[in-house]
Amino acid sequence: MAVKPKAGQKAEQKPDPKTPDLKSPQLAVRNAALQLITATLEEGEMLDERALPKSLQGADRARAMTLAKQVMRWIGSADQMIDKFANTPPREDVRMILRIGVVELMVMGEAAFGVVDSLVSLAHAGQHTTLASGFINAILRKVAKEGAPIWAKLNHARHSATEDGWRRMKTDWGKAGGLRILKAQLDDAPLDLTVKSDAADWATRLGGAVTPTGSVRLTRPGAVTSLEGYETGEWWVQDAAAALPARMAPPANGKVLDLCAAPGGKTMQLAAAGWDVTALDSSVPRMRRVEANLKRTGLTARLVTADALTWAEDTFDLVLLDAPCSATGTVRRHPELPSTRGEAEIATLSALQKKLLPAAWARVAQGGTLIYCVCSMTKTEGEDQAAAFLSATPDATHVPLQSDEFGDPDLVTEEGDLRTKPSLWPEIGGMDGFFAFRAQRSA
Ligand SMILES: C[S@@+](CC[C@H](N)C(=O)[O-])C[C@H]1O[C@@H](n2cnc3c(N)ncnc32)[C@H](O)[C@@H]1O
Repeated sequence: MAVKPKAGQKAEQKPDPKTPDLKSPQLAVRNAALQLITATLEEGEMLDERALPKSLQGADRARAMTLAKQVMRWIGSADQMIDKFANTPPREDVRMILRIGVVELMVMGEAAFGVVDSLVSLAHAGQHTTLASGFINAILRKVAKEGAPIWAKLNHARHSATEDGWRRMKTDWGKAGGLRILKAQLDDAPLDLTVKSDAADWATRLGGAVTPTGSVRLTRPGAVTSLEGYETGEWWVQDAAAALPARMAPPANGKVLDLCAAPGGKTMQLAAAGWDVTALDSSVPRMRRVEANLKRTGLTARLVTADALTWAEDTFDLVLLDAPCSATGTVRRHPELPSTRGEAEIATLSALQKKLLPAAWARVAQGGTLIYCVCSMTKTEGEDQAAAFLSATPDATHVPLQSDEFGDPDLVTEEGDLRTKPSLWPEIGGMDGFFAFRAQRSA
């Protein structure tokens, strides 16, 4: 039996479950989201690495990506609901469809009749048996009818982490701190811009606000490329926290090596600050993005495509190493990360960071400065790397940040390093998680 529209709700065009039409927008969007989350969970792909079907047009492409992101963000809570309402655990492919339904119903406030009918049709189209389609129909109708009070009682922050992720959160930030971070990660991130100059003026022009650290923050930006100042390269997209490591540099004076530079956010900051920049990254396609970003903003840097572990052509007054990491500070933008970056990936990445640090240090001239940063929430990749490097490198002197260096002492650790968290600035939309430390080489 189909679920009826409530008063005031416009009925979606109803697909015939026997001959599902995957071209209808409501099915095409849900089908594309299903393909995205399946590839992410089965192959560990990031959501934006998988191309959406070409047949999906305009706003439907954005709807499919939004739906996939929401499912990945709320997947733990969705599984709790499925397990509460299903007497027997569903097959993985059936669970995938149910997750979409639960998130549409409980998080996105979609009308029950459209969600249930569409997802049952999608199950038919995917050659699921009549039994499975009936099961999906029954569970989703129950969730629509009885789910709200159960959903309201779930500990969504806790369920958003895997068992390993939660263990690490507790170890690194304590139970209460870990839950605060996880809760903040359930919100989507605002759009932050780094402007070449006059943040206040750009905030007014774009209808945004200036963050305490000088980025321009927009909450309802629309298409980035249509915003004033994009074509003329007056600004670039960069989270407020991501803009801070390059601002730990001393006043521009000479040559800087930006290691692991692509897509070039920090390269542009350093070039705009007046440094003579060499930007190095090992990825050819990502270096093309650095080139395009520099062209758009009219900034200049020497571009080198090479491995930072072995490139040894010069020494520099400043080396900034933005090391490859688990990116667990960017979960708000990439909610698939907790499901795709487990302990094995974190161990591999921290081993790479441990090798990159001395390689970067070897490029620092006498009297020069190293800045190391990661967009990670794990101490293994941040605080622990700093401590290990400083104790193993006799000619490196830690240069702590002043507690008011960025105008907000909450951003600076007791040791004088940068540590931002998604749970900071809750009243204005949070920030990504970053760690950075600074060291100087003896003259
Ligand atoms: C966190 S991203 C850098 C973001 C960039 N600094 C920015 O601000 O826009 C890490 C980068 O490290 C690069 N990378 C990974 N391993 C590398 C290596 N061995 N040598 C050079 N680059 C590497 C990746 O291609 C990726 O672009």
